Amino acid sequence: ALAPRRIIVTGGAGFIGSNFVHWVVENQSEVHVTVLDALTYAGNRENLVGIPEDRLTFVHGDICDAALLEELVPEADAIVHFAAESHNDNSIADPAPFVRTNVEGTFQLLEAARRHGTRFHHISTDEVYGDLALDDPARFTEETPYRPSSPYSSTKASSDMLVRAWHRTYGVDATISNCSNNYGPRQHIEKFIPRQITNILTGARPKLYGDGLNVRDWIHTEDHSSAVWAILTQGVAGETYLIGADGERNNLEVLRSILQRMGRDADDFDWVRDRPGHDRRYAIDSSKLRRELGWRPRHTDFSEGLDETIQWYRDNEDWWRGQKEAVEAKYANQGQ
Ligand code: NAD
Ligand code: DAU
Repeated sequence: ALAPRRIIVTGGAGFIGSNFVHWVVENQSEVHVTVLDALTYAGNRENLVGIPEDRLTFVHGDICDAALLEELVPEADAIVHFAAESHNDNSIADPAPFVRTNVEGTFQLLEAARRHGTRFHHISTDEVYGDLALDDPARFTEETPYRPSSPYSSTKASSDMLVRAWHRTYGVDATISNCSNNYGPRQHIEKFIPRQITNILTGARPKLYGDGLNVRDWIHTEDHSSAVWAILTQGVAGETYLIGADGERNNLEVLRSILQRMGRDADDFDWVRDRPGHDRRYAIDSSKLRRELGWRPRHTDFSEGLDETIQWYRDNEDWWRGQKEAVEAKYANQGQ
């Protein structure tokens, strides 16, 4: 397939979306990016600073706005859809925006792609597959049945189902990727790794949920970007690709590693209330993506990636400081 020249990136002012936009601008010199982002609490215009003006158009708007999509989509060769409400704990406290953005928003984008014959790549999560037991040698594959646990993951599963149906019934040229836990620069401080780093930087104690033995499969966000580009340009319509970099670690290990790398005692943290419905373990088998599209992750040294991420939060205190107090107040309210 020909590489698209004009792409719409929804959610391009968020964590993974902005990292993807930077990756595309740096690695694909022919491509023009239009970011469509509602700038919710998780979106930040600052995340796109430094991108040359002729490479980027920023549109402040909502993916549920069909009239706006009708203006933007005819100009584009492809839509790469990152926009979502993304945080499990928020979805437990208030699921309504998750249904709206993740389900209704994906529906509106698919309808626009259908009207205009636009290539569509949908960014999803490994959480649609539910969880695995700690002692189960299995990993998720493209054939694993859907079994989402949280309001967040059930809305992402719903959006995946819409994409599959719009491909099969209407022939929308769509692909889906389900990726494991991302880390790296510009991740919102509500998420595990940046929350703990910024707790340490502000003199607060890190907070670990439950028994701390839940396993996440960590991937550097730059490797997610290169995988999405491979699928966008070489993926087969109607197919799903799992993205992961063999990064399984439990939360206790990750937290101790952060503490040690920041010069603290490995036990200098608080055990807090568990997340209701907390998924035990995620693990991705990405052999289809590697075999069929030749993709490989580059950030295979987690300690090095963690050091760079810690350094990014040290260097960019202005980026997160203003939100820290409110984020922690919200958690404290939930006993977390
Ligand atoms: P994020 O919360 O950091 O960013 C989401 C972005 O979407 C923000 O810029 C926000 O302003 C924007 N947005 C929200 N609602 C919108 C709406 N109605 N219209 C337009 N823009 C809207 O999220 P993230 O962690 O970067 O995740 C991005 C995508 O990747 C999501 O689809 C998520 O499900 C998926 N994903 C995330 C991970 C992870 O580890 N964070 C892993 C796999 C998949
Ligand atoms: O697997 C992909 C998913 O990864 C994405 O779809 C989501 O958008 C993304 O937020 C992430 O979901 P998680 O729930 O796994 O990520 P979170 O950073 O919220 O938590 C990671 C683990 O750390 C989880 O087991 C809960 C735990 N945790 C989290 C926080 C915020 C703690 O122990 N303490 C904390 O303070």
